[in-house]
Amino acid sequence: MKITIIGGGGRVGSCAAFALQCGGLVSELQLLDANQAMAEGEALDLLHGSALAADQRIYAGDYARAADSDLFLITAGLRRKPDESRLDLINRNVALFAQILDRMKAAGLRPDAIVFVVSNPVDILTQLATDRLGLPWQQVLGLGTMLDTSRFSSFIADELKLAPTQVKALILGEHGDSMVPVWSSATVNGLPLAGLPECSPGFQNAVFERTKGSGAEVIKKKGGAGWAVGIAIRDVIHAIALDQQRLLPVSSLQRGAYDMRDVCLSVPSVVGRRGIAKHVEIKLWPKEVTGLQNSARALRETWAKVKG
Ligand code: 2OP
Repeated sequence: MKITIIGGGGRVGSCAAFALQCGGLVSELQLLDANQAMAEGEALDLLHGSALAADQRIYAGDYARAADSDLFLITAGLRRKPDESRLDLINRNVALFAQILDRMKAAGLRPDAIVFVVSNPVDILTQLATDRLGLPWQQVLGLGTMLDTSRFSSFIADELKLAPTQVKALILGEHGDSMVPVWSSATVNGLPLAGLPECSPGFQNAVFERTKGSGAEVIKKKGGAGWAVGIAIRDVIHAIALDQQRLLPVSSLQRGAYDMRDVCLSVPSVVGRRGIAKHVEIKLWPKEVTGLQNSARALRETWAKVKG
């Protein structure tokens, strides 16, 4: 599977490339970046490890060489300032993102190509890609709340001294201020977390607030996310590469689940080789459904501004 990472010279793109190299599943990684020297440097650094890592072709390229890609991963974009919300980024990143989409179209996209958006605000930019590329909506997805779900589950495990890989606690909705914690289905090795005495309402609020503020926290400490977002990206791409049909909290155009349409945000979605196979409207608590619909409302308002 050939993947072109647009933004491959940046922190998120290069961490995703490293995670995919360590995962060893994709056969070809092309790194593209406005900063060509950085793309070449990251590709060279990754190439140096190939003999110990995986049998892959890794190189810095250009849009012309991207036309035969199976999957485009778009991580390019300006980063938020610590006190900036992801939606504040909208004006700065929409123009840049639209140029990227136009260059992808000009170079040519395979009709079966998958486009995977990470750049923020990811839900809005996923909708922009869906709107502008002319691919079936199922082939355009965004990282959505996949990283938030990992942070949420990891914090819960860390606080409760549980094995992180056994904690499954979903975040759905907007990858942003209106994201929704889904305690109704949070489990540890299949057992309901709500049944743990330590998992009090105070604990739940604290761990969710920490999750919601994590993006800004990591920006403040080290300038921006890298390792965890790279692993989250790898997980989604592996579900596509292996046609795993995994249920993941990724962003895509809504078609009626939880009574939401014509907006991109994260609901439980089956992900396989063709992208989004279906949305699964798992029963949630009423307040969780209300939270999702609040996310949809906030994003629809922003989308209306972007569309102008
Ligand atoms: C974050 O939350 C990059 O938006 C991503 O760190």
